[in-house]
Amino acid sequence: MSSISIVGLGNMAQAIATRALEADNSVELIGRAPAKTAALAETLGAGATTREMGAAPTGDIVILAVPYASVVPIVSQFGDGLSGKVIIDISNAFAPGFTGLLTPDGSSVAEQAAAAAPADAHVVKAFNTTFGHLLAAKPEHPRQLDVFLAGDDERAKQQVSSFIDSLGLRPLDTGPLAMARVLEQAGLLVMGLAGHGVGHYNFYLGVTALD
Ligand SMILES: NC(=O)c1ccc[n+]([C@@H]2O[C@H](COP(=O)([O-])OP(=O)(O)OC[C@H]3O[C@@H](n4cnc5c(N)ncnc54)[C@H](OP(=O)(O)O)[C@@H]3O)[C@@H](O)[C@H]2O)c1
Repeated sequence: MSSISIVGLGNMAQAIATRALEADNSVELIGRAPAKTAALAETLGAGATTREMGAAPTGDIVILAVPYASVVPIVSQFGDGLSGKVIIDISNAFAPGFTGLLTPDGSSVAEQAAAAAPADAHVVKAFNTTFGHLLAAKPEHPRQLDVFLAGDDERAKQQVSSFIDSLGLRPLDTGPLAMARVLEQAGLLVMGLAGHGVGHYNFYLGVTALD
């Protein structure tokens, strides 16, 4: 069981929080609107708690379920409150029309978050290639969705992998945090497939091992 703080109250926050609580993880919600945060905690039930924006999160793992443009400002706002935490960045910095990414070449939102975070915090990229509506609709077969992750700290990646595993999903480590650049491009790949070759959003990007 993991202790999770989630910043943001939107689609991804709700989907991940629901699954996390079902799997007996503890969940703390952090939103910028206290009444909305309290209302979501009540809706989720199962012991979900709330914390005010900017106060040090209690979870060992802090999931930033906010738009990419808010990721670095929020990391800076929490400051030392994120000391020692594992921070999960799930964001996609899509350019309008999914024509590219807004992050400069040779960078990623996750690496920018790591640069802004306390030195003893560990940023892990995860969940950005997984559609929120599929997370919300828990599949019949627990291994149906693959969740790619990247990070520099092996222990942090283990913690995130255990959490993902607890949700009935398959964690797949792609390597160091610099691989977040590839995962963020893969988010674009998913949107390209949804708009073209697949033609809908009811699919996931996964790996099938042949032996
Ligand atoms: N939706 C998907 O299928 C999907 C899949 C993979 C990755 N992602 C990524 O996941 C992230 C969240 O997506 P979403 O679909 O959950 O978005 P969403 O439904 O629009 O929710 C975004 C949440 O972020 C909060 N927020 C924004 N700026 C904030 C700030 N400065 N301080 C505190 N909270 C702030 C919003 O707060 P308010 O409630 O106060 O407005 C809202 O609750 C994005 O980075 C997205 O790229 C999404």
